[in-house]
Amino acid sequence: MIVKTLRNFDFKDKLVLLRTDINSPVVNGKIIDSPRIEWAAKTIRYLLSNNAKVVIIAHQGRKGGKDFIVSLKQHAKLLSKYIGNKVEYVDGLFEEKAIVKIDELESGEAILMKNVRYYEDELNLKKSRFYSFSKMFDIYVNDAFSVCHRNHGSIVIPPKEIPACIGEYFHNEISILSKYKENKKKSGLYLLGGEKAEDYLSLFNVLKNKNNKIIVSGVLANLILISIGFNLGYENIWMRTQGYNKLMPKLRNFYKKYSNQIILPIDFAIGNKSIQSVKERKEYLLSDIPFKGKIWDIGHESINIFNKEIEKADFIFMKGPVGYSEVKYFKVGTVEILKKISKLSKNKRVISLIGGGHLTMSIRKYKIPNHFSHISLEGGALIAYLSGKKLPGLDALKR
Ligand code: 3PG
Repeated sequence: MIVKTLRNFDFKDKLVLLRTDINSPVVNGKIIDSPRIEWAAKTIRYLLSNNAKVVIIAHQGRKGGKDFIVSLKQHAKLLSKYIGNKVEYVDGLFEEKAIVKIDELESGEAILMKNVRYYEDELNLKKSRFYSFSKMFDIYVNDAFSVCHRNHGSIVIPPKEIPACIGEYFHNEISILSKYKENKKKSGLYLLGGEKAEDYLSLFNVLKNKNNKIIVSGVLANLILISIGFNLGYENIWMRTQGYNKLMPKLRNFYKKYSNQIILPIDFAIGNKSIQSVKERKEYLLSDIPFKGKIWDIGHESINIFNKEIEKADFIFMKGPVGYSEVKYFKVGTVEILKKISKLSKNKRVISLIGGGHLTMSIRKYKIPNHFSHISLEGGALIAYLSGKKLPGLDALKR
């Protein structure tokens, strides 16, 4: 690997810009403590014990999304807990008051800045203030492998401007994943769920190998079902308002081409449109469409079908929950499937690779025995890496 690591630098008294990924699941505005925060703390601890002045930048959710929170105050609290040292939250980034805070930082101190995705500079690279901002620092550390598939300001600009390296998490992850890429077994099963449907498009290429199958759930499953003519009811409207419809033509083509290798859910747990008002779990078959409420999980019939496929596979990759696993009524599908994969991984019957923040949170929250071959904290970046796509964040570090 051509990229530099923490060990290549002397951090004493250096002003360090650390891009980390502490993006976590959110319930009713509250951050759920996730392993990402614990991992991020490792790099911060290393930098602090080497007397660096650490300015941490990170994101939480996407603008307009349900997990988007502008202030990272809660994250600062959790980081402080894991580091054993106070990480102060600064409610700014490029503003004068934020720059003053950065200037005042002493060696061995760390501050966490406002959500980078609050600023246009993260997505609009042409006008991004990250160019001038980066130059204030001595070293840039990227510990956010999970965001490296994004061409975002805080990821690709600093390594072009100042000396850069990767952090502890990034280093560990990339070393393990490079082994998986070479060692994939013959019959692969890819379970794709959650909300980030567009991240999965490149992975449909694995179906060129007739031994591979994809099980879909979450937004991806609903989109495929709608694209091939099912009227799911409220879900059809929701998809349109969220801008997902643009993915449908591609998904319809994938389904037409590979229908024998794509497994769809056949029943669902439906609930009120607003998750806060959900008080029970009710299951309906696909033949009961159109549904009045929102799809929040797969039903037990689908769990059985999915689990039978899981039993046949040699290699399993699972990314994204199959339902809204943060909430007790809808954790069922995700928990049952994770338990099954864990059990089969225990005696090395399958090689299992689990990806994404929501699944790592579910494994921890619901105390699922961790027999998985590897749990990776990233989602989209992992897919891009496994599909052989270029990661802009990684390329930027290879100067
Ligand atoms: C993730 O959760 O996979 C990373 O934090 C990246 O988030 P994004 O998909 O919103 O860019």
